[in-house]
Amino acid sequence: MNQPLLEVKNLTKVYRIGGLLSGRTVKAIDSVSFQIPSDKPKIIALVGESGSGKSTIARIILGLLQPTSGEVIYKGRNILEWLKKNKLEYYKEVQPIFQDPYGIYNPFYRVERVLELAVKKFKLSSNREDTRKLILKAMEDIGLRPEDILGRYPHQLSGGERQRLMLVRILLIKPNLIIADEPISMIDVSLRAMFLNYLISFKDKYNISSIFITHDLNVASYVADDILVLCHGRIVEEGPKDEVITEPLHPYTKLLTSSIPIPDPTKRWKEQLDLTSIESFKKLKVEKGCVFFARCPFASEKCRNETPPFLEIKTGRKVACFLYL
Ligand SMILES: Nc1ncnc2c1ncn2[C@@H]1O[C@H](COP(=O)(O)OP(=O)(O)O)[C@@H](O)[C@H]1O
Ligand SMILES: [Mg+2]
Repeated sequence: MNQPLLEVKNLTKVYRIGGLLSGRTVKAIDSVSFQIPSDKPKIIALVGESGSGKSTIARIILGLLQPTSGEVIYKGRNILEWLKKNKLEYYKEVQPIFQDPYGIYNPFYRVERVLELAVKKFKLSSNREDTRKLILKAMEDIGLRPEDILGRYPHQLSGGERQRLMLVRILLIKPNLIIADEPISMIDVSLRAMFLNYLISFKDKYNISSIFITHDLNVASYVADDILVLCHGRIVEEGPKDEVITEPLHPYTKLLTSSIPIPDPTKRWKEQLDLTSIESFKKLKVEKGCVFFARCPFASEKCRNETPPFLEIKTGRKVACFLYL
C-alpha cells in the first residue's frame, strides 16, 4: 500500500482541569488510531456523541493542541516537523471548517477580507485584479451571488452564508484534506444537504479528502465513504459506510443505527438518542475495561476489567469488542 495521506497513531489526550493543584484530569481520547489512504480521496466520518472527544482529535490534527501521547503523521512526516519547518505548506494542505465560522471573521472588516487574506497568505495570485477574479469565480462555483455578500460585515450574513464562504475559501486554497468539525450544526436545515453535496463534489472534482465530524449518524451515512465510531474517547468501530450502517458490529453502533430509519439527511435530522440518556451515559464513563461496558446488553466480567483490542475481523471492518474475539 502507498504511504497514507494521514496517519493518526495512538493519540491520547489528558486534560488537566482546575489548575495544577487540584490535579483533576479528563482523558478525552484514548489510543485513537486511524488512517486516510492517499491513493483515492475519501470522506471519513468521525461519529460520536457530545463529549466523546471529536473536537480534541480535530484540534490535534490541525496542530492547535498537543497530544499527551501519540502522533499525527501527514504524508510520512510528523506534523510537529511540518509545523516547525513548513507551517504554511501544512495549512495549504490541511484546512479546517469549524462549527461556527463566525470566529474566523474579524467583525470590523467586510467578509471578503477572509478570502483576500487566504489568497495573500497562500500566494494564490500576484495582483489585485487576479485576486478579485479568483474570488468571484469561487463564489460562483459555490452558488453565492457576489452582490448579496461582498461589502457586508460578518454579522450581516446568515450562519449558512458565513459557512458557505468557508467553502469558497476552501475552493480558493484547494487543500488535500479538510477537517470539518460539525460544520452543518449551525446552518439551516434546508441548506445542510447542499453543504454536504459541496464536500462530496470537492472530493470528486478536486481530490479533496475530508474528516467529517458529526454526532449524527444520518449525516455520516449521507456524506461519508467510511465511518469511524467514537465512544468515550475510543474508536470502537470502523468500516465502509454501507456496511457499518446495515451491519453494525459493535453493540454501541447497533444502538446508534437502531434509530436510523431513513438514510436521507433532509428528511430526518433528529438526535440519535434522547438527551437524558446521553447525559446519564456520560456519568457512566469507566476507568478500565470496555468504554461501553455500563450500557452494553452483552457485557461480561471480562469487559468490565479488560479493554477489548481494536482488531480487523474482516476486510476493512474493525471492531473493539470481545464478542468477536
Ligand atoms: N480544554 C479543555 N479542558 C478540559 N477538558 C476539556 C477541554 N476540552 C475538552 N475537554 C473535555 O474532553 C472531553 C472531550 O471533549 P471534545 O473533544 O470537545 O468532545 P466532542 O467534540 O466530541 O464534544 C469532554 O469530556 C470535555 O469536557
Ligand atoms: Mg466538538
